[in-house]
Amino acid sequence: MTATLAPQRIWLTGATSGIGRALAERLLDDGHRVALSARSAEGLAALTEGRDNALAVPLDITDREAVAAAGERIDAAFGGLELVLLNAGTCEYLDARDFDVDLIERVFAPNFHGALYAIEAALPLLRQARDRDGSRPLLAATSSASAYVALPRAEAYGASKAALTYFMESLRLDLAAEAIDVSVIHPGFVKTPLTDRNDFPMPMRVGVETAVEAILEGLARRALDIHFPKRFTYLVKLMGILPPGLRFRLGKRMIRDRDTEAAGDQT
Ligand SMILES: NC(=O)c1ccc[n+]([C@@H]2O[C@H](COP(=O)([O-])OP(=O)(O)OC[C@H]3O[C@@H](n4cnc5c(N)ncnc54)[C@H](OP(=O)(O)O)[C@@H]3O)[C@@H](O)[C@H]2O)c1
Repeated sequence: MTATLAPQRIWLTGATSGIGRALAERLLDDGHRVALSARSAEGLAALTEGRDNALAVPLDITDREAVAAAGERIDAAFGGLELVLLNAGTCEYLDARDFDVDLIERVFAPNFHGALYAIEAALPLLRQARDRDGSRPLLAATSSASAYVALPRAEAYGASKAALTYFMESLRLDLAAEAIDVSVIHPGFVKTPLTDRNDFPMPMRVGVETAVEAILEGLARRALDIHFPKRFTYLVKLMGILPPGLRFRLGKRMIRDRDTEAAGDQT
């Protein structure tokens, strides 16, 4: 079944590639007014060309001032937002033998701090849609199924997403009094340029079309936790609630041989 949202004004970040690009195309085809953000101005122009319901708002989400300026541009063009979809993100894996704080900060910058900057810019626009137009706005962010359980080499990526999930869930509690809903999206593996770089097996990886359907269906229901594919995410959730000793033993089995050989640890 194809999910559709009532017509609305939307800000989507990470719109030029992978899940975000597929979402952007679908939202524009469905007739929403969509402000699209990413760093690549060319990527955004390719999406917005010939569409009068699309607004290209290029930005680096790690630049707080640029994100604030983007919020002002969207305000001037749209005058409020019913839906904010924070999807921009990156992934790098850590080799703990070569502990690299720069790498961790590079991942946290867009995945966590960038989301904070975008929320800072977006909240006044969500409130405006509520106060001026009587809408019930929705703030959503793409976390990851890796937020449910600690995985090897995910000290940067998984921690940035776990922080994002915690932050959004906490914010949900506080925004409830303001009649602003919050959804957190936890995808399993989705085939995108981000995961095409991975050199390890990605069980149950799905296509972007499946991701878009699941996200739109979840947003239409205002689900608190939008996760897919369910056969994968329920397994990860189950792992996350196991006793720590069992979780540790299972997690260790996911360590690749080549990551332990050099350290001489074959256990
Ligand atoms: N694919 C998966 O399996 C998977 C699973 C779980 C969660 N996720 C999450 O889903 C989201 C989308 O992932 P994807 O797989 O579609 O990745 P992708 O194909 O690499 O797309 C990432 C998007 O984020 C934008 N972006 C990255 N850094 C940015 C920055 N500093 N400022 C502004 N925009 C930035 C990129 O555009 P520019 O390069 O033009 O800036 C691009 O549009 C990410 O948050 C990712 O962590 C993905």
